[in-house]
Amino acid sequence: MNARVLYISQRHQRVSVAAQRGRRARFLRTLDNLRVPSLIAPKAQLRVAFAAAEAAPFAKVGGLADVAGSLPQALARLGCEVTLYVPLHGTIDRAKSGIPAAGAERSVSYGASHVRVAYPSIERDGVRVVFVANKRVGRDKVYGAPDDAKRYAFFCRSVAAAIEDEPADIVHAHDWHAALLVPMIGRRVATIFTIHNLAYQGKTSAEILAPVGLVKTRISVEKPGECNPMARAIARADIVSTVSPGYAKEILTPEFGEGLEGLLQQRKADVRGIVNGIDTEFFDPATDPHIAANYSAEDRRGKAQCKAALQTEGGLRVDAETPVLGVIGRLVEQKGIDLLTAVAPDLLEGGAQLVVLGSGDPAYEERWRKLRERYPSRLFLTLGFDAALAQRIYAGCDLFLMPSRFEPCGLGQLISLRYGTIPVVRAVGGLADTVRDVDEDPRAGNGFSFRQYDRAAFSGALARALRAFRRDGDLWNELRGRAMHEDHSWTASAKQYLDMYRLAHKRHRE
Ligand code: GLC
Repeated sequence: MNARVLYISQRHQRVSVAAQRGRRARFLRTLDNLRVPSLIAPKAQLRVAFAAAEAAPFAKVGGLADVAGSLPQALARLGCEVTLYVPLHGTIDRAKSGIPAAGAERSVSYGASHVRVAYPSIERDGVRVVFVANKRVGRDKVYGAPDDAKRYAFFCRSVAAAIEDEPADIVHAHDWHAALLVPMIGRRVATIFTIHNLAYQGKTSAEILAPVGLVKTRISVEKPGECNPMARAIARADIVSTVSPGYAKEILTPEFGEGLEGLLQQRKADVRGIVNGIDTEFFDPATDPHIAANYSAEDRRGKAQCKAALQTEGGLRVDAETPVLGVIGRLVEQKGIDLLTAVAPDLLEGGAQLVVLGSGDPAYEERWRKLRERYPSRLFLTLGFDAALAQRIYAGCDLFLMPSRFEPCGLGQLISLRYGTIPVVRAVGGLADTVRDVDEDPRAGNGFSFRQYDRAAFSGALARALRAFRRDGDLWNELRGRAMHEDHSWTASAKQYLDMYRLAHKRHRE
């Protein structure tokens, strides 16, 4: 085996980062001794520093955690050397996650003072996960502290300091919490900024900038005295990406641009959309330990047992013929909670059963509690979050509802497809990119969708879905099989990220 082939084959092995690094170092030394350094440069692994506020399984509030918890692994499988930086939140169970008590320590400047920050790290599936440990960063909630803006600015400052010591070729920051990392890195390293949700920009006072070493100079969209972290990252990153091609187009318009459409238009040539994947090993009905019976695309018999178990668990009538509709997610306007609340009584009166898991707007939570009082044997409501229950819902339902007002990507529809639960979605953003209406496209459709954001349009799509469920067992079965056979793993999307990294890296070197 020649050296290059040996090196490439090494890159494809899923070995621990440390082992990989050790081996790579030994290999490079060997090459040095052989005096063939020209082989090294073009094939060197890209070192990616990935920064996000949350990452599954350590801390999870929304879809960002799923992405930060699975895309790095997919990139590592493609040969990248990924370091994921996340805050050591107070809720992270150190013992359970195997996070060592001590780690590398650095002194990070903050205003006139110097703050000691620890960086305990672990390895997970070929990715080094570095936790930024300091009481300014780690709190009992991922979001919602009164000083979140300062807190996340300091998180970025700490990550930037770590990157000085452990250089990267690509710095990949996610959402507003990690956004200030982009101007902190400046032109030193190629930067990618990914928007998971443009509605949260982290707008705050410009006072937070000086202590973390950033200039106050306003960018066009900021008001005097204001700092908009997300806008600053959009303005400065080498490439701006978002989590579906559809949303990448939508955010250039006033309807979805959240006031940043002008800035995004200016950067249009550098705006990309790459659809999210899901962790298909974790979300796999064939092996999922949380569901009543395992099943697969080829043998779907277990799904009926999952449905009966869910009905029993929720105190619903156990009946295979009754359609069970699932909702999982934040009960907020973005997710179309107003439409869901409006159609719920009709659905329940019409004989359907509803299973809802999530928390959000207190006014809507209250309305759903009232609905439960009225329909105790038809509505299984859980206000809060429970990952294992979520999996039982994906497995046990017939239909999965996502009538979102806007949706950068959406993961629920991808997970439900994998579990053979047919999505009913509004055709917007990533939902429009991943769900094809079966009435419009009988041979390739995988769900039901509607366009206009109103109750009548949503009810129309639901009526079509329920008719299909009740009418023809064979067709429904075929639809289920098709949904389950689709590939929503990271494989294709991670390759697109890698291409984007290579492009940013190349441009940066030029
Ligand atoms: C945000 C978006 C959601 C997306 C997720 C992961 O939560 O609202 O659409 O799937 O980020 O990118």
